[in-house]
Amino acid sequence: MNTNHDRNPGTARHTAKWPLAVGAAITATLLTGCQGGQMISLGDQASSYNHEMLNMGLWAIGLSLIIFLGVSAGLFYTVHKFREENNQNAPQQFHGNNRLETVLVFIPTLIVILLSILAVRTMARVNPVSQQSLSVEALAKQFWWNFSYPSAKVTGGVVANGNEMIVPIKQTIAVTTTSADVVHGFWAPNLGGQRAAIPGSQKTWNIGTEREGVYQGNCTQLCGSSHANMRFKVVALPQNRFDTFIKDAVAYTAPAPAAGSAEERGMNVFMKGTATAPMACAACHRVQGTPAAGVTGPDLSFFGTRRTLGAGMWEAMTADHWMAPDAAAHLHAWIKHSPVVKPGSLMPRYDGGEYMDKGKMIKGGTLSDQEIDDVAAYLRSLKLPDEADYWAGIPINGTGKIAGGTK
Ligand code: CUA
Repeated sequence: MNTNHDRNPGTARHTAKWPLAVGAAITATLLTGCQGGQMISLGDQASSYNHEMLNMGLWAIGLSLIIFLGVSAGLFYTVHKFREENNQNAPQQFHGNNRLETVLVFIPTLIVILLSILAVRTMARVNPVSQQSLSVEALAKQFWWNFSYPSAKVTGGVVANGNEMIVPIKQTIAVTTTSADVVHGFWAPNLGGQRAAIPGSQKTWNIGTEREGVYQGNCTQLCGSSHANMRFKVVALPQNRFDTFIKDAVAYTAPAPAAGSAEERGMNVFMKGTATAPMACAACHRVQGTPAAGVTGPDLSFFGTRRTLGAGMWEAMTADHWMAPDAAAHLHAWIKHSPVVKPGSLMPRYDGGEYMDKGKMIKGGTLSDQEIDDVAAYLRSLKLPDEADYWAGIPINGTGKIAGGTK
């Protein structure tokens, strides 16, 4: 190690860079975070919401700098000019100087007015929801998100997806948040501001992006034991691909499994349960085009197209998808005993163990490993047509990777 540089006269020149580096590091820490390898940033200027916010922030910081420099200059000037050694006599008094008092009232008033105009102008730009906006409803539950499309009607409801929100780019998205239990918070920082999801209340605001990609979102209100496991993805698609997704999702009916296949056995367990597991999946989950119409848990109509499990606890971005050994093991464990792998999950256990439901301990059902694998096979078969695979070829924002297509 070379320690000579400490005495090198050139050092002073280098240390001058330190404040810059520290400032940059603090800014980077405040503005960005990392999850699942994904960079999340509220400085993402592909979102008009974030663009407006940065614009307002820069003006406010600029005004504050002018005030700071003005006040500092005044202070130093006064301290310098009225030092005791320079002034033998008492300073001149200016009590009752109307002109000075008017100026001192006028300047702060002007500052407050300017800042108010900035804030009101920004609010006016980001808050109104136009009639042309695409509406998406975000229903928060402990501990997952249900994203539904009110304009995409299907038998018995509307198109809905769990924890994966599909939106078009270059368009304003009107997101309406609400909650089924406690207060949650919706935030995908790259796409715009956050909103609380409050039971009994519906809040609508705009998000959007100019750039296609997979973006990370999180719950931002401490809402229980799996608050940190209440994540979601926003997949922003070109308009034509989004239209294809909606068209195919509206037309979707779950494929009928071949007779005697694992998928068929899994479907039977899913729909009716078994003697040892009477709580059938269908009681809580919906699968479009089947008798399964439960609404307590996430809609599983296109589970096979999804790449996230357990509200983003696990991701299967590879082309092997949920067939890859690691991902398949997560899926198996999830069906077998969801409350064991995700604290506070309200899904029953199927390993015979006990779990907490509404403050009571309940004994779960029992499924064999084979039955669980059959259910997994059925879930994997619930796929949108390849043309509507919203993951295919979409860049995963901040990772330099591309999400794999259907396999
Ligand atoms: Cu939901 Cu934190």
